[in-house]
Amino acid sequence: MEYMGSKEYWEDKFANRSDELLNPERSLIENISYFKKGSVLDIACGDGRNTIYLLNNGFKVTGVDFSCEALERLKMFADRNNYFVDTQQIDLSIENSLRDIGIFDNIVINHYRLSKEQLSGIENNISDEGILFMSGFGYKHQTDSKIRKDDLFQPTDFDVLKKSFELIKYSENQDDRGFFVTYIFRKRKES
Ligand SMILES: C[S@@+](CC[C@H](N)C(=O)[O-])C[C@H]1O[C@@H](n2cnc3c(N)ncnc32)[C@H](O)[C@@H]1O
Repeated sequence: MEYMGSKEYWEDKFANRSDELLNPERSLIENISYFKKGSVLDIACGDGRNTIYLLNNGFKVTGVDFSCEALERLKMFADRNNYFVDTQQIDLSIENSLRDIGIFDNIVINHYRLSKEQLSGIENNISDEGILFMSGFGYKHQTDSKIRKDDLFQPTDFDVLKKSFELIKYSENQDDRGFFVTYIFRKRKES
């Protein structure tokens, strides 16, 4: 599975990128107004194109990834803008690896398919009425050797969230890169 990839695959990919930061995800820009003021946990943040965008927009951001190269590059991009970014090297394939990360007002998961086990625990990491933003290749995306069926968001992935979250927006988008879906959930207020 190259898209989700092994650690070696991603270390190598980030080590060979240029010093230019990629543009933030279009869907994140389009939906930033849904976010709750405060903090963001960027899960599988990579080298931080979305993290930096969120810092630019006044959020306090923690970026999590298993790639040391990615996190070093993120820190470099943050330094260039005089931003502080908290980074944590975490392997998301390890059960409960997010358990002690803390509580955030928003969580972003962009182009990473979190396991159902991790997703079912995510309610513990988000404040009341906090936003869970997830975007990536969706169920209709044409698979190939890099992006396989296992990498695609499936409509049933998020059934585990129904009890604690309300789906406030769902969108599909087809462009030259493929078929994308975006889910925006809001955590229900505890009564
Ligand atoms: C397709 S990139 C997306 C990066 C970023 N979210 C973005 O939108 O630019 C997938 C990211 O997931 C990270 N990743 C893959 N498997 C992981 C794992 N088991 N634990 C933590 N991070 C992982 C990779 O290092 C890479 O940064």
